[in-house]
Amino acid sequence: MEERRPLIAGNWKMHGLHREGVALAAAVAEKAASHHGHLHLDLLVCPPATLLREISETLAESVIAVGGQDCHALESGAHTGDVSAAMLKDAGCSHVIVGHSERRADHGENSDQVRAKATAAHACGLTVVICIGETREQRDRGEAMDIVGSQLAGSLPDGANAENTVIAYEPVWAIGTGLVATVADVAEVHAGVRAGLAKALSDSDAMRILYGGSVKPGNAAELMELKDVDGALVGGASLKAEDFWAIAETCL
Ligand code: 13P
Repeated sequence: MEERRPLIAGNWKMHGLHREGVALAAAVAEKAASHHGHLHLDLLVCPPATLLREISETLAESVIAVGGQDCHALESGAHTGDVSAAMLKDAGCSHVIVGHSERRADHGENSDQVRAKATAAHACGLTVVICIGETREQRDRGEAMDIVGSQLAGSLPDGANAENTVIAYEPVWAIGTGLVATVADVAEVHAGVRAGLAKALSDSDAMRILYGGSVKPGNAAELMELKDVDGALVGGASLKAEDFWAIAETCL
């Protein structure tokens, strides 16, 4: 099997005004450039929608890809406040996150809607990062594997392959809390996701599965060395170029 190339992605969430956002992107680009093309990993930043075009321009000469944090399932229309996949593409994005637990919780999104968004993103040539993960209550009830399995099966669009789709396992209770799933728990869920992918796809072995939830420079190395962990989706620590880079360095 060909080795999967790690992906380190930063989800800035609702953080970043113009000046600090551009400075952050430029600082990460400088770190990446210092490696002179010897990077054996992919890098992605997902700033808020207001900054996408400007940051795409800031990163035009860099290896760092730019992604949106969500998209609507339709191409255009009367959907106040929403952004379509075509608009993300037009703003310079190559990727989009769909199904983040904050969208599932704050906006009541279910896996059917996530799948529709992923389908729309694929139609525009965007790579999707599909997020899945259980709540604390679901884990305590012993349902983590079932929840993750059903979110995966429900969210994966037809035509998903290792080129156009990345999976991110983010246990909801580990997001922004400083609590990280144990290495054993992460290994178990990622192996389950890999098995779920094998049922659905022909090139499942090549698809990347990221871990997200309180990933920091201090815990990244032990997570990244797990067999089925192919990178990280980083929230808080992606807002500091030093920390984001230190996490990326664990994959170099
Ligand atoms: P934190 O790294 O802040 O826990 O956020 C993780 C996340 O939700 C990334 O999408």
